[in-house]
Order: sequence, then C-alpha cells, then structure tokens
Amino acid sequence: MATIRRFDSADAPAVAGLIERCLREVNSRDYPGEVIERMCDHFTEQRIKELAIQREMFVAEANGIAGTVSRDGNKVYTMFVNPRAAGRGIGRLLMRHIEALAVVDGYDHMETGASITGHGFYHRLGYIDVRSTETEFGFNYILRRNLP
Ligand SMILES: CC(C)(COP(=O)(O)OP(=O)(O)OC[C@H]1O[C@@H](n2cnc3c(N)ncnc32)[C@H](O)[C@@H]1OP(=O)(O)O)[C@@H](O)C(=O)NCCC(=O)NCCS
Repeated sequence: MATIRRFDSADAPAVAGLIERCLREVNSRDYPGEVIERMCDHFTEQRIKELAIQREMFVAEANGIAGTVSRDGNKVYTMFVNPRAAGRGIGRLLMRHIEALAVVDGYDHMETGASITGHGFYHRLGYIDVRSTETEFGFNYILRRNLP
C-alpha cells in the first residue's frame, strides 16, 4: 500500500515527470495537444517547487513516487497518479488525507477543479458539480464535497 508524506524539494524532478506522464498519457485523451503542451510547459520542476511553498503538497510513495496532491485550505490542486499505479486507491488515499487536514482546520467542505479526465474520479469520491469553467488549460469542472 502507498504511504503519504509531505513533498520535499528533492521530489520536484519526480513529481514534474509524473505530471508530464499523466498529461501526455491520460489527459491527452480529453484535451487537444496544444493544451497538453501548455500544461507540460507550466508544470516544470521549478514551478512545482514554487507551488509547494504556496500550498501544502503531498506525495504518495509506492515503489517511488506514485502520486501527488496539494491543498490550500479546502481547495484541491495538482491531483495526479502515475498511470502505472492508477486504479489501486492511491488517488482516493491522497484526497482523504487532505480532506482530513481540512476538517482539522475547521472547513465544512472541500472544493476542487477537475479536468474532464478526472471528473468521474471526484464523483466516485462523493464530490458534486457546482459549475464549469474555461481556464487557460481548457474546460474544467468545479466540484464540492461536504466534510464531516
Ligand atoms: C484521476 C486520477 C487522479 C485517479 O487516481 P487513481 O489512483 O487511479 O484513483 P483510485 O484508484 O483512488 O480510484 C478511486 C475510485 O475512483 C474511480 N475512478 C478513478 N479514476 C476515474 C475516472 N477517471 N473516471 C471515473 N472513475 C474513476 C475508481 O474506479 C475508484 O472507484 P471505486 O470507488 O469503485 O473504488 C488518475 O487517474 C490521474 O492522475 N489522472 C490524470 C490526471 C487527472 O485527470 N487528475 C484529476 C484532477 S484534474
């Protein structure tokens, strides 16, 4: 099973590589090549390090870094699981981890932006559509889940 720990700046190359792999192998099914390229250009090692300062970033380890997620309070960002490790509950584990932290901070709901690709995943985890939006990275859904 995967274990979750805080991101360390030494993880940046692995996390950037993991995100690029997801974008090219998975998200590319739902978004045009130019959007995928823009996202790959965006999530550089340096950008990952900067984001990890602004937000709380986590990695899931299972024979190396298998997934990542970050949060800013009750907002979810950069949820990615290596396609080779997909379907084993790692995405759910990461989400439940940051949801528990948001509960401790006193939030009553979690909010995420979801790609077309990740939309069904959030539904499985109990998230409900709030609205949709167009971003620089294409069409996104905004979803929420009430926290206990
Ligand atoms: C979406 C993603 C994070 C899911 O990670 P994962 O580790 O494979 O997900 P889990 O194994 O924890 O799946 C949890 C549940 O969601 C379901 N699920 C996973 N991905 C799904 C999808 N794309 N659509 C519908 N259901 C999905 C699983 O079948 C599982 O269902 P269960 O309740 O029957 O067990 C991963 O596929 C990914 O990184 N995709 C590319 C990047 C992306 O789109 N990120 C989403 C945020 S924008």
